Amino acid sequence: MQNVERLVRSINSLMILIGILLITVLSMGIWILVGGNGTNSNPATVDSAALLLTDGDGTVGLPALDKSEGMWTPPSDEELNKLPNAELIKYGKELIAKTSLYLGPKGSVAKLTNGMNCQNCHLNAGTQPWGNNYAAVASTYPKYRGRSGSMEDIYKRVADCFERSLNGTAPVKGSKEMEAIVAYINFVGSNVKKGEKPKGTGIYELAFLDRAASPEKGKKLYETKCVSCHQSDGAGVLAADGKSYTYPPLWGKNSYNHGAGLYRLSRFAGYIKANMPQGATYLQPQLTDEEAWDIAAYVNNMPRPAKDLSKDWPKIEEKTFDHPFGPFADPFSEEQHKFGPFKPIKDAKKAIAKK
Ligand code: HEC
Ligand code: HEC
Repeated sequence: MQNVERLVRSINSLMILIGILLITVLSMGIWILVGGNGTNSNPATVDSAALLLTDGDGTVGLPALDKSEGMWTPPSDEELNKLPNAELIKYGKELIAKTSLYLGPKGSVAKLTNGMNCQNCHLNAGTQPWGNNYAAVASTYPKYRGRSGSMEDIYKRVADCFERSLNGTAPVKGSKEMEAIVAYINFVGSNVKKGEKPKGTGIYELAFLDRAASPEKGKKLYETKCVSCHQSDGAGVLAADGKSYTYPPLWGKNSYNHGAGLYRLSRFAGYIKANMPQGATYLQPQLTDEEAWDIAAYVNNMPRPAKDLSKDWPKIEEKTFDHPFGPFADPFSEEQHKFGPFKPIKDAKKAIAKK
């Protein structure tokens, strides 16, 4: 009898021992899985955890900067030279690339703008994939735009950038300068079918953060990644001739005004993600999505020229999620429309649109 009892007791202890062993092995496995292995988890994981997929401005969400094949490229110089208006188009390209020499504060043709070049924001004269290019301008204009509440042709859209991004006045329709710029933009998009937007068009749509973008975090990043060219006062650096910028301004009196596209946080963040610091491209971005949003928050929180926007957005329900001036058709504050988080605003806009 005693022997049987002893046997049962030792079987019991054996079972408990196996149990403890199993629990230890299992919990070690879980510990390794969640990344508690002491080497700190990989920053990419942290980054994506803070991000939400977006449908940006109606485009389908992109989980990461798309580096796949099939990027749009502009038509060649050979094709240009076959055209009867090739000279006008070349002049248009020159005006886009070196706007200030012709139309800046010391411009040789007229003094209409703040000294920036169209090309400062529309890289390689508007031909760089995700460099705010003109790929889909000829194919999608005239089109309705909520900002003006009207059908806009290319002249109107170009004039907008003169008045907002270049904080100045546009050359009139019919002037050689305006006709040349429009001819060039039409040429750049001449290999795109009507209604289409090829891959790499315009500005990259970044995934949203699930928090408000932070000017404080952005300031620190600006001081390490941007200050060497754009300077601590954001004023950039003028070239030796005093006519154009070697490094264009990001805020202050010579920068774009608060009615400009780059003043929208998503435009700024998407632009710098694929293009800044200088040398970065969509193939080799140098900023994480979070860094891009936070730097955008810092730069767009600094002083810049104002513009009378009272005639903009005649239908307030058409305001984009990141248009930072009320009144709004949704219940969110100007602060949230400026810095985010944007997903709740997008969701509310969708709900309003469904009604
Ligand atoms: C400070 C930056 C900046 C400068 C300088 C600038 N633009 Fe723009 N431009 C933008 C932004 C931002 C957009 C909007 C892009 C978007 O909504 O995705 C835009 C949009 C446009 C569009 C419409 C593109 C489209 O696909 O709908 C045209 C055309 C245009 N700009 C022409 C010009 C011309 C011409 C000049 C010079 C006279 C100029 N821009 C100067 C930032 C700038
Ligand atoms: C090595 C110099 C350099 C650095 C560093 C740099 N940039 Fe730029 N940036 C430029 C130049 C040059 C242009 C104009 C490009 C052109 O005309 O082709 C430009 C253009 C821009 C523009 C559009 C024009 C304007 O003035 O509004 C923005 C916005 C911008 N940079 C933001 C940034 C931000 C944000 C950083 C830091 C993450 C940064 N840049 C770092 C050189 C630099």
